Amino acid sequence: MSTISFGIDVGGSGIKGAKVDLDTGEFIGDRIKILTPHPATPEAVAQTVAEIIDIAEWDGPVGITLPCVIRDHVARSAANIDPSWIGTNVTELFGAHLGDRPVSVLNDADAAGLAEARYGTDAAREGAVIFLTFGTGIGSAFLMNGHLFPNSEIGHIEVDGKEAEHRASSAVKEKKDLSWKKWAKQVSKVLIAYEKLFSPSLFIVGGGISRKFDKWVPLLTCETPVVAAELKNRAGIVGAAMAANEEFQP
Ligand code: BGC
Repeated sequence: MSTISFGIDVGGSGIKGAKVDLDTGEFIGDRIKILTPHPATPEAVAQTVAEIIDIAEWDGPVGITLPCVIRDHVARSAANIDPSWIGTNVTELFGAHLGDRPVSVLNDADAAGLAEARYGTDAAREGAVIFLTFGTGIGSAFLMNGHLFPNSEIGHIEVDGKEAEHRASSAVKEKKDLSWKKWAKQVSKVLIAYEKLFSPSLFIVGGGISRKFDKWVPLLTCETPVVAAELKNRAGIVGAAMAANEEFQP
Protein backbone atom coordinates (compact mmCIF):
# COMPACT_ATOMS: atom_id res chain seq x y z
CA MET A 1 0.00 0.00 0.00
CA SER A 2 1.27 3.45 -0.81
CA THR A 3 2.08 6.09 1.80
CA ILE A 4 -0.29 9.03 1.64
CA SER A 5 0.30 12.42 3.21
CA PHE A 6 -1.11 15.95 3.00
CA GLY A 7 0.70 19.14 2.02
CA ILE A 8 -0.33 22.79 2.01
CA ASP A 9 1.57 25.54 0.24
CA VAL A 10 0.92 29.09 1.46
CA GLY A 11 1.57 31.50 -1.40
CA GLY A 12 1.01 35.20 -1.97
CA SER A 13 -2.14 34.73 -4.03
CA GLY A 14 -3.42 31.27 -3.12
CA ILE A 15 -3.25 28.68 -0.35
CA LYS A 16 -3.20 25.26 -1.99
CA GLY A 17 -3.40 21.78 -0.57
CA ALA A 18 -3.60 18.20 -1.77
CA LYS A 19 -3.25 14.61 -0.73
CA VAL A 20 0.04 13.26 -2.01
CA ASP A 21 1.06 9.71 -2.83
CA LEU A 22 4.60 9.67 -1.46
CA ASP A 23 5.58 6.64 -3.52
CA THR A 24 5.10 8.58 -6.76
CA GLY A 25 5.02 12.26 -5.71
CA GLU A 26 1.66 12.62 -7.48
CA PHE A 27 -1.50 14.23 -6.11
CA ILE A 28 -4.42 12.03 -5.15
CA GLY A 29 -7.63 13.78 -6.15
CA ASP A 30 -7.96 17.46 -6.86
CA ARG A 31 -5.78 20.21 -5.53
CA ILE A 32 -7.83 22.52 -3.30
CA LYS A 33 -7.13 26.24 -3.63
CA ILE A 34 -8.47 29.14 -1.58
CA LEU A 35 -7.40 32.73 -2.17
CA THR A 36 -4.87 33.98 0.37
CA PRO A 37 -6.62 36.28 2.87
CA HIS A 38 -5.46 39.89 3.00
CA PRO A 39 -3.82 40.83 5.23
CA ALA A 40 -2.26 37.34 5.41
CA THR A 41 -1.95 37.35 9.20
CA PRO A 42 -1.18 34.13 11.11
CA GLU A 43 -4.81 33.80 12.32
CA ALA A 44 -6.33 34.39 8.88
CA VAL A 45 -3.94 31.98 7.15
CA ALA A 46 -4.43 29.30 9.82
CA GLN A 47 -8.22 29.54 9.38
CA THR A 48 -7.85 29.09 5.62
CA VAL A 49 -5.55 26.11 6.14
CA ALA A 50 -8.18 24.57 8.46
CA GLU A 51 -10.83 25.11 5.76
CA ILE A 52 -8.72 23.22 3.22
CA ILE A 53 -8.26 20.31 5.63
CA ASP A 54 -12.03 20.27 6.23
CA ILE A 55 -12.83 20.25 2.52
CA ALA A 56 -10.32 17.44 1.97
CA GLU A 57 -11.69 15.51 4.97
CA TRP A 58 -8.10 14.71 5.95
CA ASP A 59 -7.43 13.62 9.50
CA GLY A 60 -3.70 12.81 9.49
CA PRO A 61 -0.56 14.90 9.94
CA VAL A 62 -0.17 17.99 7.76
CA GLY A 63 2.86 19.72 6.26
CA ILE A 64 2.63 23.46 5.65
CA THR A 65 4.97 25.81 3.80
CA LEU A 66 5.43 29.51 4.50
CA PRO A 67 7.56 32.15 2.77
CA CYS A 68 9.43 32.62 6.06
CA VAL A 69 12.55 31.41 7.80
CA ILE A 70 11.34 28.70 10.21
CA ARG A 71 13.66 27.68 13.01
CA ASP A 72 12.77 25.89 16.26
CA HIS A 73 9.06 26.13 15.34
CA VAL A 74 9.19 29.93 15.11
CA ALA A 75 8.83 32.11 11.97
CA ARG A 76 11.78 34.48 11.88
CA SER A 77 11.29 36.47 8.69
CA ALA A 78 8.37 37.69 6.59
CA ALA A 79 9.59 39.27 3.38
CA ASN A 80 6.46 38.72 1.26
CA ILE A 81 3.82 38.02 3.89
CA ASP A 82 2.32 39.96 6.81
CA PRO A 83 5.10 41.08 9.23
CA SER A 84 3.09 39.79 12.21
CA TRP A 85 4.39 36.28 11.36
CA ILE A 86 7.77 37.17 12.82
CA GLY A 87 8.05 35.57 16.26
CA THR A 88 4.94 33.38 15.77
CA ASN A 89 5.25 29.79 17.01
CA VAL A 90 3.86 28.18 13.87
CA THR A 91 3.53 24.69 15.33
CA GLU A 92 1.31 26.00 18.13
CA LEU A 93 -0.65 28.23 15.78
CA PHE A 94 -1.54 25.52 13.25
CA GLY A 95 -1.88 22.87 15.95
CA ALA A 96 -4.56 24.99 17.64
CA HIS A 97 -6.52 25.37 14.39
CA LEU A 98 -6.12 21.79 13.23
CA GLY A 99 -7.29 19.86 16.26
CA ASP A 100 -3.82 19.41 17.70
CA ARG A 101 -2.74 16.91 15.04
CA PRO A 102 1.00 16.75 14.20
CA VAL A 103 2.07 19.58 11.88
CA SER A 104 5.41 20.22 10.18
CA VAL A 105 6.03 23.76 9.01
CA LEU A 106 8.89 24.72 6.74
CA ASN A 107 10.06 27.36 4.29
CA ASP A 108 8.31 27.18 0.89
CA ALA A 109 11.50 26.96 -1.21
CA ASP A 110 12.98 24.36 1.16
CA ALA A 111 9.84 22.25 0.69
CA ALA A 112 10.01 22.56 -3.09
CA GLY A 113 13.71 21.70 -3.05
CA LEU A 114 13.08 18.57 -0.97
CA ALA A 115 10.40 17.46 -3.41
CA GLU A 116 12.65 18.07 -6.40
CA ALA A 117 15.46 16.13 -4.74
CA ARG A 118 13.17 13.15 -4.14
CA TYR A 119 11.10 13.04 -7.33
CA GLY A 120 12.95 15.22 -9.85
CA THR A 121 15.97 14.68 -12.05
CA ASP A 122 18.82 12.44 -10.80
CA ALA A 123 21.13 15.45 -10.87
CA ALA A 124 19.10 17.01 -8.03
CA ARG A 125 20.44 14.29 -5.73
CA GLU A 126 24.08 14.55 -6.75
CA GLY A 127 26.57 16.90 -5.13
CA ALA A 128 26.08 20.54 -4.17
CA VAL A 129 22.90 21.81 -5.80
CA ILE A 130 21.20 25.17 -5.42
CA PHE A 131 17.47 25.05 -6.07
CA LEU A 132 15.82 28.41 -6.70
CA THR A 133 12.20 29.50 -7.07
CA PHE A 134 11.39 32.61 -9.06
CA GLY A 135 8.07 34.18 -8.09
CA THR A 136 7.11 37.17 -5.95
CA GLY A 137 10.54 36.74 -4.39
CA ILE A 138 13.48 34.43 -4.99
CA GLY A 139 13.40 31.39 -2.72
CA SER A 140 16.32 29.02 -2.26
CA ALA A 141 17.07 25.51 -1.04
CA PHE A 142 20.63 24.24 -0.55
CA LEU A 143 20.93 20.53 -1.27
CA MET A 144 23.90 18.26 -0.71
CA ASN A 145 23.41 14.78 -2.20
CA GLY A 146 19.68 15.41 -1.84
CA HIS A 147 19.87 16.49 1.81
CA LEU A 148 18.62 19.92 2.78
CA PHE A 149 20.47 22.69 4.59
CA PRO A 150 17.39 24.78 5.48
CA ASN A 151 16.66 28.52 5.47
CA SER A 152 19.37 29.63 3.05
CA GLU A 153 17.42 32.75 1.92
CA ILE A 154 19.86 33.81 -0.77
CA GLY A 155 17.17 35.81 -2.54
CA HIS A 156 18.11 38.53 -0.10
CA ILE A 157 21.80 38.64 -0.92
CA GLU A 158 22.76 42.02 -2.33
CA VAL A 159 23.96 41.78 -5.93
CA ASP A 160 25.46 44.89 -7.46
CA GLY A 161 23.79 47.19 -4.92
CA LYS A 162 20.34 45.57 -4.99
CA GLU A 163 18.75 42.60 -3.26
CA ALA A 164 18.72 39.65 -5.68
CA GLU A 165 14.95 39.25 -5.50
CA HIS A 166 14.40 42.94 -6.21
CA ARG A 167 16.56 42.54 -9.29
CA ALA A 168 15.46 39.25 -10.79
CA SER A 169 12.27 37.75 -9.32
CA SER A 170 9.56 36.99 -11.85
CA ALA A 171 7.46 39.70 -10.16
CA VAL A 172 10.12 42.22 -11.21
CA LYS A 173 9.91 40.99 -14.81
CA GLU A 174 6.16 41.52 -14.75
CA LYS A 175 6.19 44.86 -12.95
CA LYS A 176 8.82 46.39 -15.20
CA ASP A 177 7.51 44.60 -18.27
CA LEU A 178 11.04 43.31 -19.03
CA SER A 179 11.70 41.29 -22.19
CA TRP A 180 13.01 37.72 -21.68
CA LYS A 181 16.43 38.96 -22.78
CA LYS A 182 16.54 41.84 -20.28
CA TRP A 183 15.23 39.73 -17.45
CA ALA A 184 17.65 36.87 -18.22
CA LYS A 185 20.48 39.41 -17.96
CA GLN A 186 19.40 40.25 -14.41
CA VAL A 187 19.00 36.57 -13.52
CA SER A 188 22.51 35.90 -14.89
CA LYS A 189 23.95 38.63 -12.66
CA VAL A 190 22.37 36.98 -9.66
CA LEU A 191 23.46 33.45 -10.61
CA ILE A 192 27.03 34.61 -11.30
CA ALA A 193 27.12 36.19 -7.82
CA TYR A 194 25.82 32.92 -6.33
CA GLU A 195 28.37 30.77 -8.15
CA LYS A 196 31.18 33.00 -6.92
CA LEU A 197 29.98 32.56 -3.35
CA PHE A 198 28.93 28.90 -3.30
CA SER A 199 30.40 27.07 -6.34
CA PRO A 200 27.45 24.71 -6.79
CA SER A 201 27.59 21.95 -9.39
CA LEU A 202 24.09 22.76 -10.60
CA PHE A 203 21.28 25.33 -10.36
CA ILE A 204 17.72 24.03 -10.59
CA VAL A 205 15.19 26.76 -11.32
CA GLY A 206 11.57 26.46 -10.27
CA GLY A 207 8.51 28.64 -9.75
CA GLY A 208 5.75 29.34 -12.28
CA ILE A 209 8.17 30.93 -14.73
CA SER A 210 10.16 27.69 -15.00
CA ARG A 211 7.35 26.38 -17.22
CA LYS A 212 8.65 28.80 -19.88
CA PHE A 213 12.29 27.87 -19.25
CA ASP A 214 13.06 27.60 -22.99
CA LYS A 215 12.54 31.37 -23.25
CA TRP A 216 15.15 32.33 -20.67
CA VAL A 217 17.35 29.48 -19.44
CA PRO A 218 19.26 29.27 -22.78
CA LEU A 219 20.03 33.02 -22.46
CA LEU A 220 21.76 32.70 -19.08
CA THR A 221 25.50 33.39 -19.01
CA CYS A 222 26.64 31.81 -15.75
CA GLU A 223 29.16 28.96 -15.96
CA THR A 224 27.23 26.55 -13.77
CA PRO A 225 24.67 24.44 -15.64
CA VAL A 226 21.03 25.43 -15.10
CA VAL A 227 18.10 23.05 -15.49
CA ALA A 228 14.37 23.59 -15.00
CA ALA A 229 12.65 21.98 -12.03
CA GLU A 230 10.56 18.98 -12.94
CA LEU A 231 7.74 19.24 -10.43
CA LYS A 232 6.63 22.75 -11.47
CA ASN A 233 3.92 24.12 -9.18
CA ARG A 234 3.39 20.75 -7.49
CA ALA A 235 6.70 20.98 -5.64
CA GLY A 236 5.65 23.04 -2.59
CA ILE A 237 2.69 20.82 -1.72
CA VAL A 238 4.66 17.62 -2.32
CA GLY A 239 7.57 18.85 -0.16
CA ALA A 240 5.16 19.84 2.60
CA ALA A 241 3.57 16.38 2.48
CA MET A 242 7.03 14.78 2.70
CA ALA A 243 7.86 16.92 5.73
CA ALA A 244 4.63 15.86 7.45
CA ASN A 245 5.37 12.20 6.85
CA GLU A 246 8.94 12.48 8.11
CA GLU A 247 8.04 14.83 10.99
CA PHE A 248 10.66 17.15 9.55
CA GLN A 249 10.85 20.42 11.47
CA PRO A 250 13.73 22.84 10.86
C1 BGC B 1 11.41 34.82 1.37
C2 BGC B 1 11.73 33.33 1.36
C3 BGC B 1 10.83 32.61 0.38
C4 BGC B 1 10.89 33.26 -0.98
C5 BGC B 1 9.93 32.62 -1.95
C6 BGC B 1 11.51 35.34 -0.05
O1 BGC B 1 11.21 36.70 -0.06
O2 BGC B 1 12.31 35.51 2.20
O3 BGC B 1 11.55 32.81 2.66
O4 BGC B 1 11.26 31.29 0.29
O5 BGC B 1 10.60 34.64 -0.89
O6 BGC B 1 8.62 32.71 -1.52
